[in-house]
Amino acid sequence: MSQAKENAAMAALDFVESGMTLGLGSGSTAEVFLERLGERIAGGLKVQGIPTSQRTADVAEENGVPLVEPDKVESIQLTIDGADEVDPQFSLIKGGGACLLREKIIAHASERMVVIVDASKMVETLGEFALPIEVDPFGMALTAEQIYAALMQSGCENAQTVLRQKKDGSGPLVTDGGHYILDSRCKKIPKPADTAHMLSQIPGVMEHGLFIDLADVIIIGETDHAKVMELARE
Ligand code: A5P
Repeated sequence: MSQAKENAAMAALDFVESGMTLGLGSGSTAEVFLERLGERIAGGLKVQGIPTSQRTADVAEENGVPLVEPDKVESIQLTIDGADEVDPQFSLIKGGGACLLREKIIAHASERMVVIVDASKMVETLGEFALPIEVDPFGMALTAEQIYAALMQSGCENAQTVLRQKKDGSGPLVTDGGHYILDSRCKKIPKPADTAHMLSQIPGVMEHGLFIDLADVIIIGETDHAKVMELARE
């Protein structure tokens, strides 16, 4: 476990208050957070969490974090999640772990989103990390053509797209929601909001990994401390 992730996760605990319902992100950094959150719960903190993947649900349960169904809560005060890339406007690429649909549903429904990353995730322009796009398997080739056009028309440097495979090579990876993931090697996404909007218009696109105007706080873990950056939204 890297110390940078540990420091980011520890700093995120400062945003958690007793009584909160939390959105629980997915990925290795979010899992470190769950471990530290579990320790606080053992010490008396009272929170409940909504997991954004089966894997996160499993890790939360292992660490004694009480879970709740998303449809059983009136509000979600805070989501804590990782990211694959973060730009200076706090736009994100997410979905490296294939959990982007549930992550976005919960982040969007949350009053606040805190993103925990190490410094390697900070970029000037999004796009070096391949953009995950969750698609319905039906008519996927037609959807892929429209994705290619949307990426190029919105100014991306490249739009080469590959169908994500399972790690054991036994076929396409299937998400928790039963969809496939197309990874688009955009290289540069100069206008992420435009690209996000165009991708959202394509019927076969269930969701894409561009998270625009969702993150309120970015915590960058370093080896000996964490830097907390807050965005003041109007
Ligand atoms: C999961 O689908 C992703 O959005 C993760 O949040 C992202 O890939 C970051 O994961 P790590 O913390 O493992 O880098």
